[in-house]
Amino acid sequence: MYKVGQEEVDAIAKVVLSKRYFRYQGKENKSVTDQLEKSFEEKFQVSHSLMVTSGTNALVCAMAAAGIGPGDEVIIPSFTFVATAIAVLQVGAIPRIINIDSTLSLDPIEFKKAINENTKAVIPVHMDGLACDMEAICTIAKESNVLVIEDAAQAVGGSYKAKRLGAIGDLGCLSFNVDKIISCGEGGALLTNDNSFYKKALCFHDSPCQFGETKKDVFEESDLCIGTSMRFDDIKAAMLNIQLSRLDEILLQLRKRKKLLISKLEGKNYQIIQGNCIEGDCSTSLHIKYEDPIQMVTKVKKLLGEKVVCLPITGRPAHVCWQWMEQINKRRFFHPDLDPFKWAESDMSYQKSDFLQSVEILSSTLKIYLDLEGTDEEFEKKADLIAGLL
Ligand SMILES: Cc1ncc(COP(=O)(O)O)c(C=O)c1O
Repeated sequence: MYKVGQEEVDAIAKVVLSKRYFRYQGKENKSVTDQLEKSFEEKFQVSHSLMVTSGTNALVCAMAAAGIGPGDEVIIPSFTFVATAIAVLQVGAIPRIINIDSTLSLDPIEFKKAINENTKAVIPVHMDGLACDMEAICTIAKESNVLVIEDAAQAVGGSYKAKRLGAIGDLGCLSFNVDKIISCGEGGALLTNDNSFYKKALCFHDSPCQFGETKKDVFEESDLCIGTSMRFDDIKAAMLNIQLSRLDEILLQLRKRKKLLISKLEGKNYQIIQGNCIEGDCSTSLHIKYEDPIQMVTKVKKLLGEKVVCLPITGRPAHVCWQWMEQINKRRFFHPDLDPFKWAESDMSYQKSDFLQSVEILSSTLKIYLDLEGTDEEFEKKADLIAGLL
């Protein structure tokens, strides 16, 4: 979260004092959560948005809405937070992990090769605000009748060819946990233009809402399902409404600072990594790739020595598949009978050596955090310092 202030406090206080925190307030009254969903629909140009309690739950809900379950496979990239894989397993499907390419996102060539008769969906993950190659991914997915579920948890507000990330695929998922561009502590949103996915998601995300007055007329018999509870509340919605109004300003500043930093770099023995849409970039960091891991780590040490906040890109816990795939290989499910591999045709397990392309890229890449603290002049000085150290 980059910016927070008195406006958030006032908005939360107003809801708390009203004593109306529940998102369903009868047919006549629009709740703060309803208003927030409308704001997301406008900003992301989608017909439906649904607030849920986390980004992980947005992914689970998206897959449930799309009817993905036991026996199905979902393709995910090697470079993603463990939550992407967990969400697939939660609906009883299995994640097929594939390599990333030099843009740090799902490699379309590997995606095409990985599709088989059990593949139901692909999850392109816009890691660190770097957009995936959505044109190539959507084209391949369409040819093979595979759904595209975007994981834009780390890319809220970014865009690809003038469309917001999360609003391009069949379904899109956002996260608002404390590490994200805008936040309300914990939260998530599901986006879609498909009315039947939306109705199913609404039923699944909050089973009891099928019985209450507020949403009763939205459903038809065929939408009803036994789901769970990932219902959002109006206190969080009040904070996120204000955060959402700050989003474009935050992105403008992040892009300005990243551009300035890049303009200072000569890139003699390193490569600046960019996503698949530079104008729509919403990175909270700058990614630099060296020729080998030793050079990269040496630079990280130098930068840290000068108090520049940075780390090897594999330094965050559970962000690359070889940090979390052991849980899958060891089939650590809370109940053995609910092991999705029991229903699957494939009894796969993963080795780090399956991902040599990803290992090569990620093990020699570092990330420097872009902060919005201080004045532009102070940031420029810092940019000069970084340029001298790289
Ligand atoms: C790529 C990615 N997907 C999904 C999630 C899950 O979001 P949440 O923590 O809101 O459940 C995260 C969270 O950090 C993430 O980085």
